[in-house]
Amino acid sequence: MFPERFAQHWISEMSAPGDLVLDPFCGRGTTPFQALLQDRRALASDTNAVAYCVTRAKINAPSKARVLRRLAQLRRDYDPTAEAQRTQPLPEFFGFAFAPTTLNQLLYLRRRLRWRTSDTDAFIAALLLGSLHGESDRSAAYLSNRMPRTISTKPQYSIRWWTRYGFEPPERDAFGILRQRVDFRYATPPPTGSGEVFHGDMRGLPTIARRHQRRVKLAVTSPPYLDTTSFEEDQWLRLWFLGGPPRPTIGRVSRDDRHWSATPYWALIADMWRCLGRLMSEDSHVIIRIGTHRSPPHEIVERMEAAASFARRTIALDSWTVSDIVRRQTDAFRPGTHGHRSEVDLVFSVT
Ligand SMILES: C[S@@+](CC[C@H](N)C(=O)[O-])C[C@H]1O[C@@H](n2cnc3c(N)ncnc32)[C@H](O)[C@@H]1O
Repeated sequence: MFPERFAQHWISEMSAPGDLVLDPFCGRGTTPFQALLQDRRALASDTNAVAYCVTRAKINAPSKARVLRRLAQLRRDYDPTAEAQRTQPLPEFFGFAFAPTTLNQLLYLRRRLRWRTSDTDAFIAALLLGSLHGESDRSAAYLSNRMPRTISTKPQYSIRWWTRYGFEPPERDAFGILRQRVDFRYATPPPTGSGEVFHGDMRGLPTIARRHQRRVKLAVTSPPYLDTTSFEEDQWLRLWFLGGPPRPTIGRVSRDDRHWSATPYWALIADMWRCLGRLMSEDSHVIIRIGTHRSPPHEIVERMEAAASFARRTIALDSWTVSDIVRRQTDAFRPGTHGHRSEVDLVFSVT
């Protein structure tokens, strides 16, 4: 996730109110959300259902009254006895991760929330995703046994860890937690405008969002880095809540362009440029943040510049800067991982 101030800075530098701002790899929606906060319009896509749901909640937030009504309805319709009687053959991980009453609520909400078709349900689902797992020994806002908040740990590893340290899943009320989250979210009003986010591969964006062809004034994006872990695998428990399988998967429920080798990776970047070539307007800018692990930054810059030719537009690299990456929370939960040494920010202008 890149910091809000990164998107904020480039949006104010390179666009004006009313302009269309794009992030084809939107992740948690930092770019489109900041765009709306700064009175721009927003367009985004991501293959990952978690990214889509969270971004949709951020850029199409319903009114608080609507969310509370829906939450009250869900709570009213919930019948714990009926839910307990439904047979749900789930892997043993779930019994270690959640208390039985909490798990029943989760299964009910998982079945009932229509996050693909309703803004209100997407909003509630996104709040739930934020509470699904975390450091529950420190905060009562998390539903799971103790887990990192950022990534879903692997089942066997989690079970071994919980058993070794004697951690039990906490008894948590999902409805109560959601209610608190609603108050917290609306403590600051959501942006007034709304944006568009597509659940799918960015390669399809110029076709799906045809009316935005040659209309985008600024793209601020961070494509998957070469050699990072899979977003799908890292978010497996949240993806399960959104209807995915009850175990970690790679490349099954999303077309997650995570690459281990350079050739397919740079083919993805070429495709990103093809897509940008069709969407960017005259006199627009593309800001790309990319991590480097194996390759020195100047090599990344050279390859990115070469890949820009796939846009079939006149594109100039205006500047680039390198910054060191501080150790991330996720690394702390995965001893032996080193993360990326640095990040390169590239600024392109399109004419
Ligand atoms: C480095 S993350 C972006 C993080 C984002 N800037 C943020 O602040 O949260 C890259 C994202 O690209 C998504 N992704 C991977 N392949 C994709 C593709 N072909 N089309 C669209 N999104 C893709 C991943 O699911 C992931 O969310």
